[in-house]
Amino acid sequence: MTSTLVTGIAELVTWDDEQPIRTDAALVVDGDRVAWTGPAHAAPSADTAVDVGGRAVLPGWVDSHSHLVFDGDRAAEFEARMTGTPYAAGGIRTTVAATRAATDEQLTARVAALVTEMRRQGTTTLEIKSGYGLTVRDEARSLAIARQFTEETTFLGAHVVPAGPDGSPGDPAAYVDLVTGPMLEAAAPHARWIDAFCEEGAFDVDQARAVLAAGAAVGLRGRLHANQLTYGAGVRLACELGLVAVDHCTYLGDADVAALADSGTVATLLPGVEFSTRQPYPDARRLLDAGVRVALASDCNPGSSFTSSLPFCVALAVREMGMTPAEAVHAATAGGAAALGRDDVGRLTVGARADLAVLDAPSHRHLAYRPGVPLVTATWVGGRPVA
Ligand code: NIG
Ligand code: FE
Repeated sequence: MTSTLVTGIAELVTWDDEQPIRTDAALVVDGDRVAWTGPAHAAPSADTAVDVGGRAVLPGWVDSHSHLVFDGDRAAEFEARMTGTPYAAGGIRTTVAATRAATDEQLTARVAALVTEMRRQGTTTLEIKSGYGLTVRDEARSLAIARQFTEETTFLGAHVVPAGPDGSPGDPAAYVDLVTGPMLEAAAPHARWIDAFCEEGAFDVDQARAVLAAGAAVGLRGRLHANQLTYGAGVRLACELGLVAVDHCTYLGDADVAALADSGTVATLLPGVEFSTRQPYPDARRLLDAGVRVALASDCNPGSSFTSSLPFCVALAVREMGMTPAEAVHAATAGGAAALGRDDVGRLTVGARADLAVLDAPSHRHLAYRPGVPLVTATWVGGRPVA
């Protein structure tokens, strides 16, 4: 195995307990792992050396929530929202029609392009959901395609109830039976997680509970979309079930915040959604002050959040959600890892995977201070540059 000494690090974010953020630092990569971090003056020797020239080095982003398998375009819907048309869950059906009509090659090419976009912006681990197929065949193929890009795949057959063949409203009870029966059976071999959209216009708490239970019975771990558009019992359901993460968390009452703090379920905040739907941003400060574990993710999807950029989400979280730059970077790295039940990524402690984002800036603060500027100059996965 070859070791590499990385020098010239103006600021190194490791999230190690002793010194989570260190200036004038060095790092040694051995194979695909972090072997050493510390002050530049104490750096050991290695087989090769790379000088990053006074830049900041962060753990790569862990984007724990995305919907990349889709076809079609909803820019007109976005434009209408900017002049006051509200976001509604039903828009998902537009993407479902386009996705079903696309070939495997078209869908795969789209995912590849979006993953390349993410890598260029420093994402090194990502989760991808199905949810725009909503037939047995289309959910299974969405997950098979997603699986070519990540191990963190999530079956989201319970995204919305699709329309019937004649365009009539679908039957929710029959659709939940399909999702928990033949669709789950076809999807499970390609998925690690199961998810449901628990919201008005999508699935209620009892339906979400049934979907999560069916997934658990075949070994899929649960996560949930909840409290995005309205107050409701979805977040409390996630906490009651001890899910690893519950995502959106925009409309929260005190009982929801208390349940999150008590359960340890990670609250994954998705500010790209509030940007694109003009909903109020989730209150990250309230969650952090209550002791809730918080993650930030892109929710990259064609309807509610068509951004692949964690730097953009970090900037929004700092400007609009009461997070410090360090809290936002933590949420998008270690927080995302926690939301996927992972401890090998999202940090640059000894033994972690050497997944790095190198910024063309001296500090992580510049991610929010210089919004919209492409500051990530290099992304490494497993000790090797990928973008
Ligand atoms: O996470 N909330 C549900 N699903 C997506 C939106 C999907 C869409 O509008 O196409 C989300 O926001
Ligand atoms: Fe989502």
